[in-house]
Amino acid sequence: MSILFKNGLVVTASGSYTADVFVDGDIIKAIGSGLEYQADETIDAAGKYIFPGAIDPHTHLAMPFMGTFAQDDYETGTIAAACGGVTSVIDFDLQQKGESIKECVERKISWAEGKAAIDYGLHPGIMDPRPEIIDEVKAAVQEYGTPSFKVFMVYDFRVDDATMIKLLEATKAYGGLVQVHAENVYVIQHMNEVLEKEGKLAPIYHAKSRPNLAEEEAIARAAKMVELTGSSLYVVHLSSMEGLRKIQEARMKGVNIYSETCPQYLLFTEERYNEPDWQGAKYVMSPPLRTAESNEALWEGLRKGDVQIVSTDHCPFDFKGKKDMFGKDDYKKIPNGAPGIETLLTVMHTEGVVKGRISLEKLAAVLSTNTARMFGMANKGEIAVGKDADIVLFDPKQKFTITQSKLHMNVDYTPFEGYELTGMPSQVFSRGMKVAQWNGKQMEFTGEKGRGRFVKRTPFSGF
Ligand code: URP
Ligand code: ZN
Ligand code: ZN
Repeated sequence: MSILFKNGLVVTASGSYTADVFVDGDIIKAIGSGLEYQADETIDAAGKYIFPGAIDPHTHLAMPFMGTFAQDDYETGTIAAACGGVTSVIDFDLQQKGESIKECVERKISWAEGKAAIDYGLHPGIMDPRPEIIDEVKAAVQEYGTPSFKVFMVYDFRVDDATMIKLLEATKAYGGLVQVHAENVYVIQHMNEVLEKEGKLAPIYHAKSRPNLAEEEAIARAAKMVELTGSSLYVVHLSSMEGLRKIQEARMKGVNIYSETCPQYLLFTEERYNEPDWQGAKYVMSPPLRTAESNEALWEGLRKGDVQIVSTDHCPFDFKGKKDMFGKDDYKKIPNGAPGIETLLTVMHTEGVVKGRISLEKLAAVLSTNTARMFGMANKGEIAVGKDADIVLFDPKQKFTITQSKLHMNVDYTPFEGYELTGMPSQVFSRGMKVAQWNGKQMEFTGEKGRGRFVKRTPFSGF
């Protein structure tokens, strides 16, 4: 199958220009003006963007968590992704007790096989850091195609600082990248006890139990470990101004510390936890939502380049049946996480580009080009000759009001209910196959479940 896009605005991280794009099979074969290839399909792209498919490097598909499972599996999650213009995900693959990294990777690939509609990579989550697991980092980086490793400084399955240091050393030696969920667990435990004694158990106290300084301290400590080892570190779901300041301080000293944030930390404040009828539970996620001051600081972090990537932390649980299953009377028992994979590109376009907070080129960088580079997806992240034809033909004028019933995520709410969007995908292509299209009212899936492939990623070599 070949496609010729005519006269679209090709968007790259470094500039945008009007051109034709010729796709043959899975690959972008030519870009130029007045291309005259005989294609199976010619698409008039005038007035539309030819945008690199977004890559979401922070998803929790089918992940067992807090006594339940994140509800989207590889089928529903990747279909929703495709409908939102996300053409690759890098999913967390949390190691189970006793598993090797290889077994952990093979297990999650087996969950994805026959289901994934778009390409995917995996970040192993190190939960059982036996000495042989640290030794296996080399093979994970160089053979398995999984060069990034998630560790948590919180939750029951957190790792201690000594393990983090060992992992930082191993990743430095072999070309890997440690990703950290940075919050100080002792601050949170203390606050939980204080709030429990005072009978403060409503959703708002989820935020109060995890103050900004818990993230600030953990990032500062992690940054010192990076400085000690001369390695590199990537902070996931950065939420606070104070955390960002620690990253900026470290970067000023030449410490290799990178970060991502998510739309919810750019756009929402902790006021959401006070929504009536316990609806604040919809936003119980960790780290929690902060204040407008942090929102603004994170936008500035994106503009300045101290925050390189925007991901979703897609981890959906139904409001009715999951969020309230154990947590109705205690915020600590509400499964942490929220849906977002399908609204990433469109919300970031409207709130970022249309509202003038970031440029269109920055949008391409933080949703695709930087992500591919940070995480070794060599064939993705750019509209360029030789790259995979992961393309969003984007109509910047199309209006859409987000409502849960028109989305594809397997969950009963969206945190963005009622958001008025300007700009929607017209058609979404994954390696040259049309996987989603606008049908006049909403996005519809046109792809094939099971076509998505596991992407073996290349080692981290700096950013
Ligand atoms: O609340 C969240 N973020 N849930 C998913 C797990 C994690 O910490 O990333
Ligand atoms: Zn996390
Ligand atoms: Zn997460």
